[in-house]
Amino acid sequence: MTAQSQPIAYFNGQLLPLDRISISPLDRGFIFGDGVYEVIPVYGGAPLRAREHFERLQRSMDEIALQNPHSVDEWIALMEQLLAHHPGNQSVYIQVTRGAPTKRDHVIPKGLQPTVFMMCYPLASPSREAIDNGVACITARDFRWEKCHIKSTSLLGNVLARQMSADQGAVETIMLRDGMLTEASASNVFVVKDGVVAAPPRDHLILLGITYDLLVKLAAEGSVRLEIRPISEAELRAADEVWLSSSTKEVLAVTTLDRKPVGSGKPGPVFRRMHALFQEHKSRLAPRRAVPA
Ligand SMILES: Cc1ncc(COP(=O)(O)O)c(C=O)c1O
Repeated sequence: MTAQSQPIAYFNGQLLPLDRISISPLDRGFIFGDGVYEVIPVYGGAPLRAREHFERLQRSMDEIALQNPHSVDEWIALMEQLLAHHPGNQSVYIQVTRGAPTKRDHVIPKGLQPTVFMMCYPLASPSREAIDNGVACITARDFRWEKCHIKSTSLLGNVLARQMSADQGAVETIMLRDGMLTEASASNVFVVKDGVVAAPPRDHLILLGITYDLLVKLAAEGSVRLEIRPISEAELRAADEVWLSSSTKEVLAVTTLDRKPVGSGKPGPVFRRMHALFQEHKSRLAPRRAVPA
């Protein structure tokens, strides 16, 4: 991509400059937010956990009865074609909506062709300062729906939650439902007490993060004690460490919660260990040379 040219994106079977893609206003993604998506981090041309992301896309599509137009292998091949135009560290954004019918109707029409869109943009990894000093978060009631395990493009609840922290100069809004920790607006949340990590259950009240799963695996391999169980608000507030995880944030320490320090107010030792395990895992990804088509 040159300074003047538009980035290349994928749309319904074609690679096109982003500004040549147009979508019907009747598309159910536009009208109802009737679609699902994924974001895959790519380091030096090598996607991290692409298969797991496309498997989650399949689960999201199954949950909303949307026919997946591609197998995991086909998705990976399409993404590789796109990545050939975007070397270096990238975020790949994939969105599939139910398609564009001829009229607006809540009832799902039969036989619609899904709309498939994929684009790349430079991966915004956490800054050195955020890694070394941690980030500020606020808390809020989780006012979203009860199907948070679906990676749906209907993100208004998450958008409004995120804006609450943005308005206070914080990085994330950590949410509580009925006194229990769920997740943050675009991240999963972990707490640490007395050296033991805890993560909320993999249920319908959170998005099961690909990074969450990777951290659970790396903790087991690195002999870090980790429990998956319900976490109360009291535990969140009394934690020695709180972390965020996501495909772009990787793992990040939360050092203030509602303007009060978390533990020592500095990223803790268990965070530093987990961050090192994560970086080591990333460094084992095979670097790839992108060949522009
Ligand atoms: C609501 C929510 N929870 C958790 C996550 C973390 O998921 P992942 O690690 O797969 O990026 C995200 C990512 O965007 C998210 O939007």
